[in-house]
Amino acid sequence: MDARLSYFAFPDQTPVPAEPAPSVVRLRQFHRRFAENIVIDGLDLDIAEGEFVALLGRSGSGKTTLLRTLAGLDPAPEQDVQVPSSRAVVFQDARLLPWKRVWRNVALGLKGAERRERAEAALREVELGHRLEAWPLTLSGGEAQRVALARALVREPKLLLLDEPFSALDALTRLRMHQLVLDLWQRHKPAVLMVTHDVDEAIALADRVLVLDKGRIVAEERITTPRGARGDLAHGLRSRLLSVLGGDQGALTSVPPSIPSVVPFRAELAL
Ligand SMILES: Nc1ncnc2c1ncn2[C@@H]1O[C@H](COP(=O)(O)OP(=O)(O)OP(=O)(O)O)[C@@H](O)[C@H]1O
Ligand SMILES: [Mg+2]
Repeated sequence: MDARLSYFAFPDQTPVPAEPAPSVVRLRQFHRRFAENIVIDGLDLDIAEGEFVALLGRSGSGKTTLLRTLAGLDPAPEQDVQVPSSRAVVFQDARLLPWKRVWRNVALGLKGAERRERAEAALREVELGHRLEAWPLTLSGGEAQRVALARALVREPKLLLLDEPFSALDALTRLRMHQLVLDLWQRHKPAVLMVTHDVDEAIALADRVLVLDKGRIVAEERITTPRGARGDLAHGLRSRLLSVLGGDQGALTSVPPSIPSVVPFRAELAL
């Protein structure tokens, strides 16, 4: 199945806000290096409450490094990094504990007598209410990712961080996951930062697409067109993003492994 179909698949019920929402993420001149390797170099980033941001960039450009900082997994001492206290992360692999049943994986870290009910409700939301007692190793890849999403959302995070969450899934499961993530996002309204290598996925899902290269944001596209009606703008937008990423615009829909040149630009789209 062609992932580009997703441009037409998701009716967008999100009302356009009258004025910009306040930021939940704010980074100023953020930097990160590993020995001599400067990975993030003076990066400024704001993400608004409830905003869905996609982050593209070639392999090794620092996407996971940035995400880990926002998740609080890597310390950022003496840096201007503001993030909400309630955050959750979903990685490429579901990272479930194989010795705990599915509902216990979701309830992990929750306190109180109602932890099982909360885990159950979250699993029902991702259509896994029938697999509460299953062992993680008996799940398919898509099911495991849905458990990971339930585990993230059960905490009602203000910031949901997704690091290539669908990249290991087949095209059809991926499309279903796109719809599910949009449904969950519209229901719970966290701000989302989703790392992906797939330009089409970014265009189909996000309010804003960023490209990271050489430690900085080198391109930004804000997409105000509703998600169900992005087909017309997708071709031009894909071409522009791929040209920043250095790919062959005709043949590729995802980020190539290396970029020969980078052309910074900034553009805003609206219909
Ligand atoms: N703990 C670490 N120690 C040393 N170098 C690291 C560490 N973590 C990341 N790096 C380096 O930082 C750079 C950015 O890595 P990062 O994982 O953020 O890239 P990425 O954009 O997520 O790549 P990919 O698309 O392949 O996942 C790479 O050169 C990587 O080797
Ligand atoms: Mg990564």
